[in-house]
Amino acid sequence: MSIAALIVAAGKGDRLGGDLPKQYVDLGGKSLLAHSVDAFLVHPNITSILVVIGSGQEDLAKTALGGRKISGFVTGGVERYLSVKAGLDALVGSGATKVLIHDAARPFLPREVIDRLLLALDEADGALPALPVVDTLAHGGAVLGDAVDRRGLLRIQTPQAFRFDAIMTSHERWNGGIATDDAQMARAAGYSVAVVAGDPALEKITHAIDLSLANASLADSRSVRTGLGFDVHRLEAGKELWLCGLRLENAFGLAGHSDADVALHAVVDALLGAIGEGDIGSHFPPSDEKWKGAPSCLFIAHACKLIAERGGTIEHVDLTIVCEEPKIGPHRSAMRERLAKLLQIGIDRTSVKATTTEGLGLTGRREGIAAQAIATIRI
Ligand code: CTP
Ligand code: MG
Repeated sequence: MSIAALIVAAGKGDRLGGDLPKQYVDLGGKSLLAHSVDAFLVHPNITSILVVIGSGQEDLAKTALGGRKISGFVTGGVERYLSVKAGLDALVGSGATKVLIHDAARPFLPREVIDRLLLALDEADGALPALPVVDTLAHGGAVLGDAVDRRGLLRIQTPQAFRFDAIMTSHERWNGGIATDDAQMARAAGYSVAVVAGDPALEKITHAIDLSLANASLADSRSVRTGLGFDVHRLEAGKELWLCGLRLENAFGLAGHSDADVALHAVVDALLGAIGEGDIGSHFPPSDEKWKGAPSCLFIAHACKLIAERGGTIEHVDLTIVCEEPKIGPHRSAMRERLAKLLQIGIDRTSVKATTTEGLGLTGRREGIAAQAIATIRI
């Protein structure tokens, strides 16, 4: 069974204001869109993620997602329901039997909500998260009108989950004008929609105050942690030299079970250290043939996934490479760029330094290259 996540991110974010549409705005180290994508990426039952974006926004969206792997982008329409339709059309033939339709403007998506929706979908054609209304409701403008009985009223959130064929049919049959969510279309087509408990964290970012509150709640609820990594690999003639994810021309390369990228290994250990997850050897044992010659970017991706699964974000990584040669200076900016890409963070959150040991010790005698890294994460 294939369960697709469809994230709509084709709005203009007019009510938030600012230069960037809100889905691309930074919230605690990653874009709103990236927050939503991560929630689906780490969920074991979600098999694909499609993101609907505004026309000509592919570069913006790619930057906002760093290197996150999604199934693709689709261009949306002038109203939310048209953006959803564009996404659904693109999913036809993908094999998706269920779909979760989510606003990129709701960055904090707890795993439990997805679980509740998928469970409810076993019985119903659709399911959505909702919260009770707590304020008094009334008609009115400048002058107060009649009160509205709030009993039985719900505040509807996303993601909304549907059997794929049901929501596709609902969109095709819809003739009710601008629909602000998909569940009302499903109901109009005669499908059943279950209600599961929503979550206050799922509030939509609409106005500037919502973004300030989201930032404040992130800052309040998270602590800063650091991890330290250190590694050494032996230099040998005739080996490839991989350093910080780049292949460098050098008479000597590093020996090891994987590609022996000592710099990335130090970074992986720093990341694992920050979440108390052991070290690189415990995740990728050198005794395992599977990792023979493996590119170390796989190890970085694994450490990043572990951090994302815990709701963490990488604030900064500082790497020091210790060697007499090759000279790191000419490669420094390419290394920072590569590191930023692998870690899916801004280049300003990475640092690559180098030093020699003045001819002393194992690096001074050019027997090996050492690297150390410190990672700062917020979790
Ligand atoms: N959305 C969309 N296509 C549209 C309009 C909205 O994909 N034509 C998406 C938005 O990107 C957002 C979600 O639908 O993730 C909810 O919409 P809303 O909060 O209204 O976002 P915006 O339309 O971007 O904001 P505003 O109405 O303030 O311009
Ligand atoms: Mg809108």
